[in-house]
This record gives sequence, C-alpha cells and structure tokens, in this order.
Amino acid sequence: MSFPHRHLLGIEPLAASEIQTILDTALALREILDRPIKKVPALRGKTVVNLFYEASTRTRSSFEIAEKALSADSVSIATTASSAQKGETLLDTARNLEAMNPDMIVIRHAAAGAPHFLARHCRSAIVNAGDGAHEHPTQALLDALTLRQRKRRLAGLRVAIVGDLLHSRVCRSNLWLLSKLGAEVVLCGPPTLVPPGIEALAPVSYDLDEAVTGCDAIMMLRVQRERMSGGYYPSDREYRRCFGLTEARVKRAKRDVLILHPGPMNRGVEIDSEVADGPYSVILEQVTNGVAIRMAVLYMLLGGGQEPAA
Ligand code: CP
Repeated sequence: MSFPHRHLLGIEPLAASEIQTILDTALALREILDRPIKKVPALRGKTVVNLFYEASTRTRSSFEIAEKALSADSVSIATTASSAQKGETLLDTARNLEAMNPDMIVIRHAAAGAPHFLARHCRSAIVNAGDGAHEHPTQALLDALTLRQRKRRLAGLRVAIVGDLLHSRVCRSNLWLLSKLGAEVVLCGPPTLVPPGIEALAPVSYDLDEAVTGCDAIMMLRVQRERMSGGYYPSDREYRRCFGLTEARVKRAKRDVLILHPGPMNRGVEIDSEVADGPYSVILEQVTNGVAIRMAVLYMLLGGGQEPAA
C-alpha cells in the first residue's frame, strides 16, 4: 500500500493513484461492517480525538463507528461543551489535547485552513472533517466510492454538482477528486451562489434543466443558510423553481442516473422528497460508505501497513 501522507487535509494534494488506493482500502474494509462482530484489532493501542467545532451527524458518528470497528480508543469533543466556550484558542485546545498523547486529531472547524494550522503545530496525524467552505475530503471520497460501486468507473462519467457552490466544501473536494479521476463535471447554481473564478475548474451553467441533461450522476448541495447573512435568493419557493431537483428534472438525465446529496437535506428546497427517497437516490448508500472511507483513512494514516487481521 503506498500512501506517503502523514495527514489528510484535502483532496487537492492527493494523486489519482492515492485516491484509488483509499477507495480500494475502503472496499476491502467495508466487509468488516457486515460481520456479526464488527471489530478487528488493527488500531488497538491507538488513540483518536474527534474535535468538532461545528455540528455534525454523519461525519462525526461515522468516524466514531470506524474507530470502534478498528479497535482504536477515541474521545469526541463537541466544542459547545468544551473550554472553547471559555475563549480557549484552537492552538491551546490542540496543544492540551496533545499533552494527552493522542495519535490522531479529526477536526471540523468553520475556518478554512484550521486543519492545516494544526498540522503545522501538532505531532498527531490530522484529518480534515470539513473546514469552512474549503474542503471535506472524506465526503468526496465516500461520494466517489458510491459512484464507483454503482457505475464501476469514474472516468468518463458526466456529473452535475448543483446548488450552493459558494459555501460548499463538498463541492470543492468533489471537483478536485472527480477531475483527477477523469470524470466530466458541470457546475450549476444561482449566480449569487457561484464563487468567482470557479469556472477555471469546471464549466458553470445557470440553467438546471440544461446542466442535468445526459448526466450519469447529480450531486445536490445543501443551501447553507447558516453561512448566509444577506438575501442570496428571493425565497425557498423561487429557489426550488429554478434550482430544485424535481422528478421532471431527473427525467432529463440518463435513465440510470444516480442522485447524491451529502446531507442534511432541505427537502422541498434543493431536492424534492420524491427524488431524495426515489429509485435513483443513493443518499443512504453514501452514509454507509462513509464509515468504510473513514476506516480506510484511519487505517492508512495509523495502521502503518499492517494487515487488518480478523
Ligand atoms: N455530510 C456531512 O458532512 O454531514 P454532517 O454535517 O452531518 O457531518
């Protein structure tokens, strides 16, 4: 297994072959989750701190399940219940946690670059579980695993990434990953929610009907209201009319199109329930694959190449 990185900070620095290695490892480890006893001793004696400065359901719980499945010891810290509330800086928090000698810190933070900052100042391996609007590497990896399982390939797939591109770390990580692995990406969203300069990475369409036509997969993005201070769009109803994924729009894509969403969803805004719960949706498969991807990342950064013995 060749993975020369000490940290997982983003998809941008990874080579295509390294991404494929993570996906292959996740596929191999996934089988453990189907066993009656979902546990192997691969990371026995390793300690992981999950440090979440922002809310999370899927990412945090799947890291915890992955850590338990690989027998790592883990501690989860939600900063609403930590000394960050008393004004402690990120660096002081990390240094104090490091004084307890963990092997890895998994961090989610509202500031882009927070995991990179920790990587410069900490001895532990650092995993980015989402930093501001920058990257969410394990999300892109689980999306890729889901697409690869269903379509048997990523190269040549036409994938539309649709919605609030401006605030989306999921969009950025997927853009890097899908481009590196040879997929064709088209971006689509309201002009107010398209970051300047992103058209240098992939073509942008402001017409959802056009963007989804002939697609193999459609990745919907959440409207991130918590990051919006002004009126980026007139109303939820208007957003749905122009940029919501409806059953009628799904029919414009290929007959075997896959619908993805990282969650949590704003039903009736960026995606209709008939689509989210419909036959083309792989949204819950993404969640299942999230555990396998996080197992692979933990194993590759902490396992040191030992076989994940039964
Ligand atoms: N997709 C994702 O990051 O979900 P959570 O915010 O629930 O972790």
